[in-house]
Amino acid sequence: MKFFIDTANLNEIKEAHGLGVLDGVTTNPSLMAKEGIKGADNIRAHYKAICQIVDNNVSAEVIATDYDNILKEGRELAKIDDKIVVKVPMIKDGVKAIKRFSSDGIRTNCTLVFSPGQAILAAKAGASYVSPFIGRLDDIAQDGLELISQLRVIYDNYNFKTEILAASIRHTIHLIKCAEIGADVATCPLKVITDLLNHPLTDAGLAKFLADHKKVNG
Ligand code: E4P
Repeated sequence: MKFFIDTANLNEIKEAHGLGVLDGVTTNPSLMAKEGIKGADNIRAHYKAICQIVDNNVSAEVIATDYDNILKEGRELAKIDDKIVVKVPMIKDGVKAIKRFSSDGIRTNCTLVFSPGQAILAAKAGASYVSPFIGRLDDIAQDGLELISQLRVIYDNYNFKTEILAASIRHTIHLIKCAEIGADVATCPLKVITDLLNHPLTDAGLAKFLADHKKVNG
């Protein structure tokens, strides 16, 4: 399973990369705004800075919602660095643009996916990644993990090459369940990745090992 970090914060990306387990980054316009990144030049520079930290897979989202401008913006984003994956919303013009990007060899991440039907369209259009939002489905009392299970079955039935990128992950149980189901990628905040480290028996065991060592060695 690949781990992506879902943030535009450079320090968090550096910290996750430093752990040695990071395979990529996802951003979205809200996450960029949270970092106060504004203006085309600053946005490009910020994506470039992210690309300089990680080895691959930096999702950069288009703002345009019509076919021509999604293509224009996506091509500009793709030119920033080979690591860029153009993130395109699950709308009609988005699907058409994904198909075109796919023919042109530009990698895409189809975002804001909430149903199996949307995910089938994304795969048929040739998206590199599809991003089902688990947490936001849970928020409206639907089962986000069930969607991941459905997509795994459907994509395997037809050997779709699109990778399932479980998104809107809120806690470690989400992530672990996605791993059990067989999501190809999970993108989550830094805290979810570092929370995987924690177990009280690890802490207690380590304290005992160190105390016993000290008793004998001083
Ligand atoms: C995915 O690419 C999105 O950026 C993200 O996972 C959305 O998560 P949220 O629902 O916590 O905002």
